Parts: sequence; C-alpha cells; structure tokens
Amino acid sequence: MARFSDDFLFELRSRIDIEELISSYVRLKKQGRISRGLCPFHVEKTPSFTVYSDTQSYYCFGCGAGGESITFIRNIENLSYYDAVQFLAEKVGLKMPEETADDGLYALRKRIFEANREAARFFYANLIKPDCPAYTYLIGRGIKPETIKRFGLGYAPDSWDALTRHLRSKGFKENELISADLSQKSRTGGLIDVFRNRLMFPIIDLKGNVIAFGGRVLGDEKPKYINTSDTPVYKKGKGIFALNIAKAHGRSLILCEGYMDVIAMHQAGFQNAVAGLGTAFTSEQAQILSRYADEVILAYDSDDAGKKAAKRTMSIFQSMNVKTKILTLTGGKDPDEIIKRFGREYMQKIIDGSLSSTEYKLALAKEGINTDTADGKVEYLKKAVEVLSELDDAIERDVYAGRLSEETGVTRTAIDEQIKRALSFRKRKQDIDSFNKAREILEGKVIAAKNALKLYNQSASLRCRQAEETLLASLIQNPEFYKKLKDKITIDDFSSALHKRLFFKITERIENNQELDLIYFADEFNPEEMSILTKVFQKGRTISNTLDECLDCIKVMSEEKLKQSAADPSKLSDEEFLRLFYKKE
Ligand code: UTP
Ligand code: MN
Repeated sequence: MARFSDDFLFELRSRIDIEELISSYVRLKKQGRISRGLCPFHVEKTPSFTVYSDTQSYYCFGCGAGGESITFIRNIENLSYYDAVQFLAEKVGLKMPEETADDGLYALRKRIFEANREAARFFYANLIKPDCPAYTYLIGRGIKPETIKRFGLGYAPDSWDALTRHLRSKGFKENELISADLSQKSRTGGLIDVFRNRLMFPIIDLKGNVIAFGGRVLGDEKPKYINTSDTPVYKKGKGIFALNIAKAHGRSLILCEGYMDVIAMHQAGFQNAVAGLGTAFTSEQAQILSRYADEVILAYDSDDAGKKAAKRTMSIFQSMNVKTKILTLTGGKDPDEIIKRFGREYMQKIIDGSLSSTEYKLALAKEGINTDTADGKVEYLKKAVEVLSELDDAIERDVYAGRLSEETGVTRTAIDEQIKRALSFRKRKQDIDSFNKAREILEGKVIAAKNALKLYNQSASLRCRQAEETLLASLIQNPEFYKKLKDKITIDDFSSALHKRLFFKITERIENNQELDLIYFADEFNPEEMSILTKVFQKGRTISNTLDECLDCIKVMSEEKLKQSAADPSKLSDEEFLRLFYKKE
C-alpha cells in the first residue's frame, strides 16, 4: 500500500523543479534540454551527471545513480523515503497529508492505540484490587496513590493470559494483539500475555496515546524490566517517559535513568523530570527533547555505568547545541534513593548546585590527581586543556581558562598557548574525520548502485534485457498499447525480479488509469532500483514506440527464455517444452 496518494505526489511534483532542487547541491550547466554537472554520488572530473527537466529526473552515466526528486533527496540527505517526502513538502510549503482512514497501516495503528489504552485500564484496575502485590510494593517504596493514578501505573496479573482473554472479549483480534506486543504465541500455539506478574509503566506520547509499556518484576528476578519491542506505533530509542507531563513544566528538563526516578521526582514536585526508555539515550531522543528544552540536567546514577552514560549523553546534546548540566548525586545512587533518604529540599540543593558540563568534565579530569604536587598540576592541566579545547564557544573557553589559571597559579599566557595548540590539533583531526566520513558514504553509495547494476546485468542476456527494457519503456510512453498486448505477455515472461515488479506496477497503474511518472515508483523501489527505472523511463525517448516494436520485443524475450532453459528441459513448463520441441523440428 502506497504511503502517499497520487494526488499528493502529483502536487508535490508540480511544486518542485528538479533542476532548481539539484542546483542547490550540484553546479549544473545547461545544455539544451538537459543540464550537466559533476556527480555528487561519485568522484569524477568530467560531468556525467545529467538532469532531465522534461521528465524531472536525473541519471549519472558514470556511476548509474538515477531517480526523481524524492530519490535524490533520499540519497543526498541520507533520509528514508518518508522523511525525504517530508523534507521536500516542507521545502515547497506543502502540508503533509493526514493519514487516511482507508490505509491499512493507519487502521492497525489505531487498533493498537485502542488495545494499549484498554490494557492500561486493565492493568490499573488490577493494581487497585485489594491485596495486589504490586500495590503493596509501590506503597512500600513510598509512592502515593495519587502518583499511581497520575502515571496510570498498573499490575499485569500472575496469569498466562488474563490480559489476552480480556482484550479478546473486547473484540481485539489475534494479529492486533501480537502487533501491539501485548500477546505472544506460546510454544503450543495459543496466545499468552507478554507481561505477567509485573508492575506496569505505561509510556504515553505527546498526544496522550499509550504507545508502549515497561514492566518491572516485583522481586529480584531477571530480567528486571520487560519493555514493549518495536511495534507500528512505537520505535525503541524514540520515546521519552513522562515528557507528556514534563513539557508543561518549563524549558529546563531533568533527564533521569529510570522510570522510578522520574516518578519519585514528580512526586517530590520536580515535574520537569523525564527518562529514556531502556536503551542508551539516542540522538533521536535528544532531538525530541531539544524541542522542549533549552537546558537538560542529567540526573544519572552515581555509579561508574551512570557516569559513563552521562558523559555519552552529554556529548550528544553538545553536538546539538543544547546546554547540559550534571547533577552530582551524593548520598545515594539515584534520584529516587536520594529523595527518599534526604527529602525534596536536599534534592533542590543538588539541582541548584548542578555543574555545567564543562565544570563537570573538569571535576572528572581532576579526580584522583594531587594538584599540590608539580607533576599532579601538569597532569591536571593537560587534561583540563583538552576539555577546554572541546568548547565551541570562545567566550566560554576564555572564562574557564581564567579560572584554570587562578586555580593552578599557571599564567594565562601559558594556558592560552596550550589551548591554541590543542584547538588546531583538534580542528585538523575533525577535518580529516569529516572528509573520511563523507568519502565513506559516497563510496558506499557508488558501490551499492554499481552492485545493483552488475547483478541486474548478469540476470539475463543483454539481448533479452534490452528487449524487456524496450517493452517496458514503450508501455510507459504508450499505455494504450497494453490493451493489445495484454494477452501476449505475463509477468512470468520477464527474466529479472526487478522487471517483473516493474511490469506489475506499470500495468496495474495502466489498468487503473493512473499516470505513469517516476515519482509514483519511489516508495516501492529503493534508490538503487530507481536508478535502473530512470534508465528505462529515459529509454522511451530513443525507441520507435510502435506496437510492432513491442511485439518484436515479446518475441525476443520468449526466444531468449527458451535458449536459457534449453539446457535443462525439466525446468520448462509443458507448453514451453512443446514450443521448443516443434521449433526444433
Ligand atoms: P534501573 O536498574 O536503574 O531501574 O534501570 P529503576 O527504574 O531505577 O528501578 P528500581 O529503582 O531498581 O526499581 C534504569 C532504567 O533502565 C531500563 C528501565 O527503563 C529502567 O527504568 N531498564 C533497566 C530496562 O529497560 N531493562 C532492565 O532490565 C533494566
Ligand atoms: Mn532505581
């Protein structure tokens, strides 16, 4: 099922001029009806990258990369199909379509949201039943009933299939429950619950949908948490716990490691606390947070793993220009424990005293060094200069250099000299890294395109392939031929999987009276395949475009097919065998 309607893609295409689009990446030179430039997808000295404004497509005769505007953006910006469409729509001021009700995936997503919501209700109802072990557990950990309600916490009963049975009785189907990752197939083939005998944390998105669950054991068994795996409504590494609440509480967010930390923080009045979900914090999550926060305070556990994770997360935010601060959690391993032991005022003090990321790094650099000795001082200075050279902001560097000079008694000039050296070293390294990275990406793409082309070229004899291409190209140019050719050709007559799929898609669109334009193919065919399609589309310009030509192609195709299978008659269908048999006579 295509993700965007023809109408939408038509509108998108009509607002984009591919020459103009590509011009912002490649310097193009007009040569009559085409434009040429140096290919952005492989290294070349003479331009073989060609842009066709009449078909709104491009093709590189050097590396075989080709496509229309969406494929171009996919390749050059490294985006998925969907994101590339979004990128272009935004560029030309076109509103993205709302998901339409007749879309299969949309319907399934809707059902999963409903199933999740019903599951959350079920878990909550079970939690507040008398003698629920999870309720006792929560109260024992100092969680108040109103907090339980606010977060919609719940209990997955100690049963194989209590939730599955409940949801079935509400009309949910097996595939919906499995897609939602609420139920799973048991070894004997029945449906059982994914979460059993666990304290349940619903994950709620910014629109208020329940998108996933985290489920904690009540004891010390392993695994401690089970989390919903990827579903059509939830991708790991994208969700943020409690952001739905925290986003309304200022633009400074406190990022914790665990669900329980967030809950304890909120209960203590710090409603700007959030957490990642199970995985190491990702840059996608950072991107989401950066929309709601000018500053992120990291409240990671005080153990080594926590420190390491904090450093990693800090550098993610740094690369996005989001200010970070670090809490030094003294007196407990995590915010939950500290609040429980020392109360909210103490926590507030810790927050007020949180170190800027630079202060934190400097403190780490100093750890274990005796700066009273000359050697210790030098060692610390070396590490500190390294930290300061990572700062992009010259003013910030200046401030810390001043402090460092004061702290160590080493002159400002000497420190500045060292920073300057470290900076130029870093800059050089960065240049080399980014150059290497760019080259890697480009080389990867060229190889992918070349491999696709090679595989494709091997798939059938040249004669056969050209006949197929000509036939397909002719059908694209002259859809009306299909009526007359319909009985003479089927999908099986094509030699490669790509041509089969292409034939199917083209004829499907012809039957439905839909326009044939490259842009409608970009969803189903990947960028490498689009390169080949572009070649086929372009071919329509150089052939004679007659019905006889098509019939010739069909003849060639069947001859070539016979030739290929002649070596092994057992692979022939009866009909083919007879054809071959009589031909030989
Ligand atoms: P923690 O082990 O710190 O858990 O893991 P916690 O939430 O503080 O739980 P308590 O205080 O021991 O009850 C931090 C986070 O890492 C994820 C969860 O999101 C958890 O909240 N995690 C941890 C998992 O996804 N799976 C695990 O097995 C453990
Ligand atoms: Mn904890």
